[in-house]
Amino acid sequence: MIVTVGGIKGGSGKTTVATNLAVILSQQGQDVLLIDADDQETSSDFTNLRNEKLEAGAGYTSIKLTGPAVRTETLRLKQKYQDIIIDTGGRDTTSQRAALSVSDVLLVPFVPRSFDVWTLEKVSGLVGEMSTANPSLRAYTFINRADPRGSDNDDAADVLKDTVALSFIPTPIGGRKAFGNAAAEGLGVTELKPQDPKATEEIMALFRYVFNTK
Ligand SMILES: Nc1ncnc2c1ncn2[C@@H]1O[C@H](COP(=O)(O)OP(=O)(O)OP(=O)(O)O)[C@@H](O)[C@H]1O
Ligand SMILES: [Mg+2]
Repeated sequence: MIVTVGGIKGGSGKTTVATNLAVILSQQGQDVLLIDADDQETSSDFTNLRNEKLEAGAGYTSIKLTGPAVRTETLRLKQKYQDIIIDTGGRDTTSQRAALSVSDVLLVPFVPRSFDVWTLEKVSGLVGEMSTANPSLRAYTFINRADPRGSDNDDAADVLKDTVALSFIPTPIGGRKAFGNAAAEGLGVTELKPQDPKATEEIMALFRYVFNTK
């Protein structure tokens, strides 16, 4: 499966989700390719740190691609890997469009803040256009960095549920320090010791939803 984590918003958690999914897949013995299609190269930095910190290495292959090469190289490499995760930048770039033209799934994290939700219309437009080029693309949205309390989560969920171009994944990921702590060590949150059971369960719920494993 080829999964792009994208959207048109910086800092929504794309790299966090992309790297955690790559780690979980590799923990499960899958042969995974993580493509960094963001010129900021955050997921490549994460993988470099992981290769330094872990004796066994990152556990997956990581490459950087930009522009139309995201499409051509992914098409060339997809026979060689069981799963490909593509991390994109938070803008409507040639790289993100190239990724969407070859992906099975687009995952768009949203932080429950009205400003972020406003970008939904633009994401919907992008998904609409890319679905013409790639009719098999399935686009999903979910809440990341959910608040511990208050009505913002529900308000955001209501808007996301009403967005026709994207299906809503009803398993939010909370705002949890464990994600940042794990990343700082080159780890997925599922590898962190001591574990944050809630963070682990939340990312695993998203994983199961996307990869359809119960
Ligand atoms: N669920 C979460 N709980 C707590 N912190 C989070 C969560 N998700 C992401 N973060 C933190 O938010 C910051 C931005 O996350 P991340 O880098 O994954 O976003 P991004 O969408 O990839 O950003 P960019 O658009 O710059 O590529 C990071 O410091 C990350 O650790
Ligand atoms: Mg990023």
